Amino acid sequence: MSVKIRETEPEDAGMLLAYLKQVGSETDHLLIDGNGVPMTENEEATFLSRIKADPGACMLAGFLGEELVAVASYQASDNQRIAHHAELAVSVKKACWGKGVGNAMIEALISEAKESGQIRHLHLKVKADNERAISLYRKLGFVETGRYPDFFLINGVYEDALLMHLALSV
Ligand SMILES: CC(C)(COP(=O)(O)OP(=O)(O)OC[C@H]1O[C@@H](n2cnc3c(N)ncnc32)[C@H](O)[C@@H]1OP(=O)(O)O)[C@@H](O)C(=O)NCCC(=O)NCCS
Repeated sequence: MSVKIRETEPEDAGMLLAYLKQVGSETDHLLIDGNGVPMTENEEATFLSRIKADPGACMLAGFLGEELVAVASYQASDNQRIAHHAELAVSVKKACWGKGVGNAMIEALISEAKESGQIRHLHLKVKADNERAISLYRKLGFVETGRYPDFFLINGVYEDALLMHLALSV
């Protein structure tokens, strides 16, 4: 079954909050844990409205059947001097790893970024031991630009981040 991808809507707020709790509990490779994000459904809906109205931001939801199984997003700075690049984030529910969902989500996000007319570069920070994500990013053309020592503090352990970058041909 192929993943159906669409932009998130404010009405997705409740579903997204539940999704974030689940993926946060399934991996230590994200900035969230099983508590998800500290937002009410109304706050999340407002956040999603802002993303939708922001030409420098995009959030995509991926569905298998009716189930939300993946989210990918980018967000640029409001500062016009650095608004031409955006930070990418992606997650997939663990039961769906290794089926091409993450690949499809990032490809869709790259298309959105190219069409935005604003974003020229996507970049990200990934835990240096997150082999699956690093391998996927490399496959999609991202290159390593550096290493950020002790960037993460997870379960009391400091861990390095790799900095990765994709120049969009715009
Ligand atoms: C990273 C993540 C988004 C990848 O999503 P996915 O749906 O599993 O990815 P895909 O199935 O599209 O692609 C997986 C790719 O990872 C690589 N891969 C798969 N299994 C791997 C493994 N055990 N070790 C290393 N690389 C692996 C391969 O390159 C594979 O592509 P291929 O099958 O075409 O060769 C997903 O695993 C996830 O949500 N992880 C937890 C959150 C996370 O790490 N997010 C990124 C934070 S920077």
